Amino acid sequence: MSRGYNGTEYFRNAPGLLSVRLKTRLMWDGRLDGADLPTAVRDMVTEAHFMNADGRLIQERIRQIPELLALWREAFGAQSQPYGPQIFVAIAEFLKTLDGGDTWWTAPCAATR
Ligand code: HEM
Repeated sequence: MSRGYNGTEYFRNAPGLLSVRLKTRLMWDGRLDGADLPTAVRDMVTEAHFMNADGRLIQERIRQIPELLALWREAFGAQSQPYGPQIFVAIAEFLKTLDGGDTWWTAPCAATR
């Protein structure tokens, strides 16, 4: 079982995130649609047993760290302010880049190529 926030034992294991963009359902019980990665990210950040934070806290942190604020404005415009829901969308977009790549290339046996 994965460790939850503050070292507590969570009731499920943390799934790997490589190629998560290809999943049609998310979470072990499939409660989220695969296209709904931003909601999965929001749940991770905000639920007490995961990261126990909230959207406003996260947006404040980004405002307070000059490097992060500069990156935010590079992505979303010079005047834009970090905004909770958009942060979850941005992290979800990042998750879509975690591609496991071509399994053919990593096949251990040359005969399978
Ligand atoms: C920003 C940080 C995080 C992101 C972006 C993230 C992302 C995700 C995503 C996309 C899923 C669904 C994956 C799937 O169904 O295949 C997931 C599930 C899960 N994650 Fe995270 N996660 C984060 C932080 C954490 C932390 C800190 C923990 C543990 C303390 C954790 C533990 C889990 C567990 C146990 C599940 C399965 C939940 C269930 O089936 O009900 N995650 N996470």
